[in-house]
Amino acid sequence: MFRITHEILDTAKYLNLARSNMVAAWPQSYYRRELIQLKFFHKRMFVMNRPEDIQHVMVANASNYRKSLANRQSLKPLLGKGVFVSEGKLWERQRKIMSPANHKKRLKGYAETMMDAASEVADDWEGNRIGGEVDLMEEMTLLTSDIITRTMFGVVLGEGNEALYQAFQDYLASHGRIHISELIGLPSWIPRPGQAMGRSAVRQFDDVIAGVIEERHNQDEPKDDLLQMLVDFREESGEPMTGQLLRDEVASIYLAGHETTAITLTWAFYLLHEHPDIKQRLWDELASTLCGRDPTYEDLPNLPLTRAIVDETLRLYPPVHVFSRQALGDDEISGIRVPKGSFMTISSWVLHRHKLHWEDPNRFDPDRFLPDRFKQVKSFAYIPFGAGPRICMGKHFGLVEATLLLALFAQRFELKLRSEHPVEPLGRMTLRPHQGMPMNVLQHER
Ligand code: HEM
Repeated sequence: MFRITHEILDTAKYLNLARSNMVAAWPQSYYRRELIQLKFFHKRMFVMNRPEDIQHVMVANASNYRKSLANRQSLKPLLGKGVFVSEGKLWERQRKIMSPANHKKRLKGYAETMMDAASEVADDWEGNRIGGEVDLMEEMTLLTSDIITRTMFGVVLGEGNEALYQAFQDYLASHGRIHISELIGLPSWIPRPGQAMGRSAVRQFDDVIAGVIEERHNQDEPKDDLLQMLVDFREESGEPMTGQLLRDEVASIYLAGHETTAITLTWAFYLLHEHPDIKQRLWDELASTLCGRDPTYEDLPNLPLTRAIVDETLRLYPPVHVFSRQALGDDEISGIRVPKGSFMTISSWVLHRHKLHWEDPNRFDPDRFLPDRFKQVKSFAYIPFGAGPRICMGKHFGLVEATLLLALFAQRFELKLRSEHPVEPLGRMTLRPHQGMPMNVLQHER
């Protein structure tokens, strides 16, 4: 009895804290326990940390679970019925239409575009920013935004890129918090604070996206990119995809395809700043593999430590830090009944720092991901890209991008955090540094 009351209080406290910062709110005991069962009002909530249970819910019995309101509600005004939030037949069809754009054979071409866009920024830093300060989160977001629109939609947005960035910041300010009502499954018609504020951000966002789509419709020559796959799609009746759905998919790919990589790079440079020994090893690897030139796709196999730093950053600071699913029918995990309607929560933040799955879990140790130690990483204890049918569509794109951009910027610059700047991971829609990441830019001799 005492334990139950205690847990309800713990949960209530958690839900309240979670609204402002989810990752700071998880109780310490969760980093040791494998399955936490909570009852909140009429709904059951499970917080899962056992790899076998995660595999069951996300892969083996994935058809019994859908993304829950907490995942969908805050993104719906921006993404509508796009692939990140849709379900069932529509999701299946749309994912299939877009999948060829993420085929591995396209990565080399994407890598060239990534390096073109990144070297423009790095050249600008070399010319104008040495000795000055940048907000790394903002710089990386603008860069990855430029990369996703160039690669997937065939456009260089210029000022439109800044407009999209600003619109998304405004949207995050109004919709970025996960609401308690969503975690416990209240219906979507219940008004939530901040909903109205985000509308103008959505309008700004829509203006830029509408321009991208219109430009494509006016082009004589078809292009070979994701946008063309969406534009060329025909229903059995011969009808094209509706304008609304086309807009929703462009918005979804734009959003899913840039912020997460920018966050990864920002945390990676923060971790390197805090660990000069690893930074020196990275510089040694870059010097011996690249000898001062910018990296290319072909260099990737020879940059194992650079890649391991990306993997370890994704462990400690997973940009998508929480997954929430809802059971469509009764199920069972580890011998425990999961009634229909239950909420299944996986915090990759907790899972990736769980005491039973990781040695010295809070230590930044990229060597865990080097080939000889990688075998020890338990499957489903590490899920920065999710798992199962809804695994990230851009996993390989994101890994190539993060590794090459890290190599390029680390080789040319030394980034020093503004002294006494408080760095706090803020777990809302994604896991960003609260108050940005102000870094002083110094030239690094290559
Ligand atoms: C380091 C970079 C990235 C990380 C950490 C990341 C992480 C994730 C995660 C965890 C999910 C699954 C969410 C869930 O199951 O609830 C996801 C889904 C998705 N990601 Fe990524 N992502 C990254 C980069 C990208 C890129 C570059 C693209 C596009 C080129 C992309 C496109 C998508 C899409 C479309 C989905 C939805 C898939 C579906 O629901 O079927 N992501 N991502």
